[in-house]
Amino acid sequence: MTSPSASSPPPLSPPLGLSSSKVLLLGEHAVVYGQPALAVGIPQGLSASISPPADPLLSSAPCRLLVPTWSNLSVHSDQPDAPVALALRAILSALGLSGHGLTIHVDAQIPPGVGLGSSASLAVALTRALATYHNIPLDFATLDRVCMAAERVFHGAPSGIDHSVAASGGVVRFLKGPILEPLSLASPLHLVIGVAAPGASTHLMVSGVRARVERQPKILHPIIQTIGSLVDLGVAALQTSNWTTLGELMDINHGLLCALGVSTAPLDQAVYIARAAGALGAKLTGAGGGGCIVALAQDPPSQHHIATALHTVCNEVLCPTLT
Ligand code: MEV
Repeated sequence: MTSPSASSPPPLSPPLGLSSSKVLLLGEHAVVYGQPALAVGIPQGLSASISPPADPLLSSAPCRLLVPTWSNLSVHSDQPDAPVALALRAILSALGLSGHGLTIHVDAQIPPGVGLGSSASLAVALTRALATYHNIPLDFATLDRVCMAAERVFHGAPSGIDHSVAASGGVVRFLKGPILEPLSLASPLHLVIGVAAPGASTHLMVSGVRARVERQPKILHPIIQTIGSLVDLGVAALQTSNWTTLGELMDINHGLLCALGVSTAPLDQAVYIARAAGALGAKLTGAGGGGCIVALAQDPPSQHHIATALHTVCNEVLCPTLT
């Protein structure tokens, strides 16, 4: 048996915390006002592993967080103002931990800040990894409380949908609370997600909608309620594999999101390209202002065709199929 040489890298610890990413099929923004939303956990997500201090002298060093696939992101828990460091501190403090001496490695399979819930996926993976490492029991209420503390750093007053879905995976109807209703599919759901533009701040988009609602309450309160109604029609359509209806509701939802002021020219262009390529419906997904669109495909060949068309305007295209 050979012993590792002094210069060999430390063995990679097994992942302790996993999370999904998310895409909202219907209901973003209105969900902040207590309306339901329909969300899908995408298996491409994050995994976090934890290494103890390599040397006892480092056991009081601040907790380090490394995310190589996010432009080699590297922060530590004592950093004063980096948002990821603030979120890490919020998680450690909500779990009653110092994190001293630990190094957390995160493998992220999604890009950050494009509307796929990267900050929520990070919060879930970190919380699960730290809780497992320290043998802290983690029921859903505790996970929700800890992740909400981190999500407030990034998003101000989020509904909680992103981290709930990053934790649950699958297809869910969500109500702020959180109340999560897992939904089963009678046949596969074929989606195409296109990253149409750099993402905008969710915090700013949510406050922009709030300001517009306050300026135009008579017009926009009914729109928010209509989004809630179309979510429930969408849930019924999804459960009966009525993809034509679900697609139409996605198109309507995109129009209503435009009315809330969160679409942009690149998002609209990607939505129209997806529809022209045969999507049954397409809309922006997430906070808007940039980021992603989601399109519904009839079957795998159509999914491939829509993805090819979107590649002309999107930096990255994902084709998740949920069963
Ligand atoms: C962001 O993924 C979804 C929003 O509705 C914000 C939230 O629910 O916290 C825009």
